[in-house]
Amino acid sequence: MIVGGSMAAVKAPSVLRRLRERGAQVQVIATAAALEFITELSLATAAGGRVATEATWFAARPDAQHLTLARADAAVVVGASADLLARAAGGHAGDLAAATLLSVAGPVLWVPAMNERMWHHPAVQANAAALRGWGHTFLGPEVGAFGTLGEGRGLGRMAEPEDIAAATLALLPPAPAVRAQDLAGWRVVVSAGPTREYLDPVRFISNPSSGKMGYAVAEEARDRGADVTLVSGPVQLPPPAGVRTVPIESALELRDAVLDAARGADLVVMTAAVADYRAAEQAQEKQAKVAGDVTVHLTPNPDILAELGREKAGRLLVGFAMETHAGIERAAAKAARKNADFILLNYPTREGTGFGGDDNEVTLVRPDGTSEAWPRTSKREVARRLLDEARQLRD
Ligand code: PMT
Repeated sequence: MIVGGSMAAVKAPSVLRRLRERGAQVQVIATAAALEFITELSLATAAGGRVATEATWFAARPDAQHLTLARADAAVVVGASADLLARAAGGHAGDLAAATLLSVAGPVLWVPAMNERMWHHPAVQANAAALRGWGHTFLGPEVGAFGTLGEGRGLGRMAEPEDIAAATLALLPPAPAVRAQDLAGWRVVVSAGPTREYLDPVRFISNPSSGKMGYAVAEEARDRGADVTLVSGPVQLPPPAGVRTVPIESALELRDAVLDAARGADLVVMTAAVADYRAAEQAQEKQAKVAGDVTVHLTPNPDILAELGREKAGRLLVGFAMETHAGIERAAAKAARKNADFILLNYPTREGTGFGGDDNEVTLVRPDGTSEAWPRTSKREVARRLLDEARQLRD
């Protein structure tokens, strides 16, 4: 908050108190003229901290104070005088308030207070217009009594402290949502992405899984306090910070990594699109092209989810399923056969969902055949709901 040299500067403490009551952290700059109308002590008391003035700007200090102050999320100029408007519109930097206004990156709210004739002067109006042109906003002045004895009446009175506080708070960015650490103490294992089943050193069978669904689950679990291991097939996503990422290529590698990480885990989420088959014999050398058809012998890969389901050891198990038809029955049968607590069914046929997209549309299917269709939403939101569901099962 910058307090300007105006009779209305006396209202600055009321604005400060309202802002602080609503949780804002306010640093105050008082211009030299402001301190002719209100004491530094009144401002410091209302602000709950020191007031920045010309004296503090030039005190021996390691930082440039106007630059430090300019990091604020928003600036509000209370009791903005014609002179302060002119200094800001003119790009002056000869005093702390003007230099800070020249450096501030966040939004600026001007709350003018001056004599009506001064406000209407073309010079003041031109300055206000220049500031508006740079994206600054204005609150008031309002019509009412102004002057020490209320001797004047007209357009020039400063807006009320309550309105100034509300308009200032409206400029602030939304506070970051505080994530509940409701999975603190949980060990979570997530598999993501495709597997590659090599036929020879340069050819493989795979699928278009991007890893986005699994990475979203891993990141959501991490943000809720879990210790997360992400077993990932080859994808284009950077390994998430704060998550143990184990890269794999084949289903057999995925199996080893997941079974290893699952020991002592509280929850395993299998989003990986695991190839059901691999080459019965993987050629060690690149196979030459031959005339005519080629037959490739495939052998089934182990079903990792089913293997985990056979010995659950108190772990929660969540699978995903892609079905083109009879989705709910097939997913329920899969959940029962693999002993999963639930399966999220998604459809490769629904545009913008499943493989590759940022969104997904899933139906939660339980082994007893009951189901719950979730609306289409971001993969991160699907991850959030999945973890909510797992937590409820554990509670
Ligand atoms: O990676 P994205 O681009 O974000 O796409 C996400 C996704 C569409 C790949 C994901 O949401 C998804 O549906 N993953 C599972 C796809 C699949 O392989 O479904 P499935 O019906 O074949 O397998 C059912 C479950 O068993 C899955 O949890 C799978 O990981 C698991 N499985 C399958 C085969 C196998 N050999 N071992 C397994 O553990």
